[in-house]
Amino acid sequence: MCGIFGIITNQDISIGKFALEGIKRLEYRGYDSCGIVALHDSQLFIKKDAGKIDEINERLKLSEFPSESKLALAHTRWATHGPPTKVNSHPHLDCSKKIAVIHNGILENFLELKEMLEREGHKFISDTDTEIIPHLIESYMKKGDDLIQAVVNAVNQCIGAYGVVICHADYPDIIIAVRKESPLVIGIEKGKTTYCASDIPAFLPYTRQCYILEDNEMAILKAGSVNFLNVLDPDMPIKKEIINIEWSIDAAEKGGYEHFMLKEIYEEPVALRRTMKIPRTNLQAFAKILWSAKNIYITAAGTSFYASLAGKHIITKFLGKYIHAIECSEFQTELDDALQEDSVIIAVSQSGETIDLIEAIRWAKEKLKKKITVLCITNVVGSSLTRYSDESIITQAGPEIGVAATKTYCTQVLTLALIALEIARYRKVITKQEIDKYYDALKSTADIIDNYLKNNVSNIKDIVNNLDKSSNFFYLARGISIATAKEGGLKLKEVACRFIEGYSAAHAKHGPISLVREGFPIIFIAPPDETYQRLVGNVMEFKARGGNIISVVVDSDKVITELSDRTIRIPQPANKYYNIISPITFIPALQLLSYYAALKHNLDPDQPLNLAKTVTVH
Ligand code: AGP
Repeated sequence: MCGIFGIITNQDISIGKFALEGIKRLEYRGYDSCGIVALHDSQLFIKKDAGKIDEINERLKLSEFPSESKLALAHTRWATHGPPTKVNSHPHLDCSKKIAVIHNGILENFLELKEMLEREGHKFISDTDTEIIPHLIESYMKKGDDLIQAVVNAVNQCIGAYGVVICHADYPDIIIAVRKESPLVIGIEKGKTTYCASDIPAFLPYTRQCYILEDNEMAILKAGSVNFLNVLDPDMPIKKEIINIEWSIDAAEKGGYEHFMLKEIYEEPVALRRTMKIPRTNLQAFAKILWSAKNIYITAAGTSFYASLAGKHIITKFLGKYIHAIECSEFQTELDDALQEDSVIIAVSQSGETIDLIEAIRWAKEKLKKKITVLCITNVVGSSLTRYSDESIITQAGPEIGVAATKTYCTQVLTLALIALEIARYRKVITKQEIDKYYDALKSTADIIDNYLKNNVSNIKDIVNNLDKSSNFFYLARGISIATAKEGGLKLKEVACRFIEGYSAAHAKHGPISLVREGFPIIFIAPPDETYQRLVGNVMEFKARGGNIISVVVDSDKVITELSDRTIRIPQPANKYYNIISPITFIPALQLLSYYAALKHNLDPDQPLNLAKTVTVH
């Protein structure tokens, strides 16, 4: 989510210039604010503000720090706790202003720790969870710990995910870096300079020698050397192998993947695990409002709309009220004479800036003189949509660079499903044991996708080769999977420039079926839910007309597998609790299919023709 960079050297170099270049190369990880701290003569020099790095550099001259300084930390932020403001940007300090911390991740118990530290007399100035860390270290140092011991004790008290880098004004010879769940790598120019960063490209122009920090490991960086210890067992010796990086800088920014789209598909398990950690209070606030709402609308564009269609099914299942899903560009036209007071609108958007969505919300608020509630689900803290909404939930996908939305789709559906379970808890429509089983199914989506991406993807390229000559496709499904068919199809249109119709398998008999000839490719989305038996009939109808049937099924599937020419198999249990997760677990396969189809046709999947990541024109 955020970009972290640290440098300690014994060379005569401009530390500020290195720090600035380091975070510039990490800007793709987050770009709503940034900051740099350099240490010289037992003093910390800090420059930070909200905005893009280049704008802040214009104003604050981010590369200019005392020329003798040999140590700096730099951070580029993707806000999670608190809006992008100067005070919330990193680094954060303790009360004595001697300890500086930069952080990537989320501390789940920060409120609890904050209260404890406030009782000890610590004063906080930001809304961030990060600010806890320097104060906690200060607290341990006051009790007699040296810096390293204090950091060990502090991080062991933190629950959540962190890549944390720390410096202390009285310890000019070390930087401390610790990681749990958030990435940190160490780069080394032996005897001269040591770097740490949340991603390799930050230091790749200076060194290709690096160490990867594992969970619960701490690195103590000195100029040109590094030592490691395990924070759970500091006496246990750690042996780490140095790695020689052979990627180009361009490839490194993509984590070694050829394209951002592929990288972001492979990031889905991590994004889903982070989304599972959205605070329950946030989900409960949405659930309460939806439970007491008279009319509910869900609105969005493109991929976010298809995520909304899937989410609408899951929420309706537990809410027992119909939710109207309307594309945001048609929202005003459809509801001009029908929108009623006390309605609730759920607005879903990756960017939070899609103009048609913002206009729909603005229009609804003005029309009903604000007697309407807007709940938004977006990936961007502080986006316009959050400002027009009464309540917001931030999905935890992290920055998405590829124009084709991938990981954000999964996190949007998961967020809507988590809200649905909170509604089920309120309404008591199912037992607590059943809610737990549904919750476990949602939690398992990350592992299922991980498993699929590691073990089952090999036939995707064969399928792409088999479909090479086809330029028209059907993606067919029933029930909740119509959303998957539409989203899978949208990906193929966007990145592989193929014409596809994502459609209801039943409705396709009322016209579209007349297009089917020998070899016409039809991709059936066939999870083992209540629609399965009827879908079997639809598969037979299309097969009888010569369709080339490719089905997406669970591993244990038999009937549709028998009828299909090829299958894509998702390693997922077949039981009713898992029925709600197929919109999440089936989509990576279709995203990969589109990705490889784009490559097959020599198209750049990261920059599809005629598209922009955020559509801010009507
Ligand atoms: C998705 O692959 C597309 N790039 C597009 O449909 C996108 O989902 C749509 O423009 C909505 O964007 P938003 O989620 O940022 O509002």
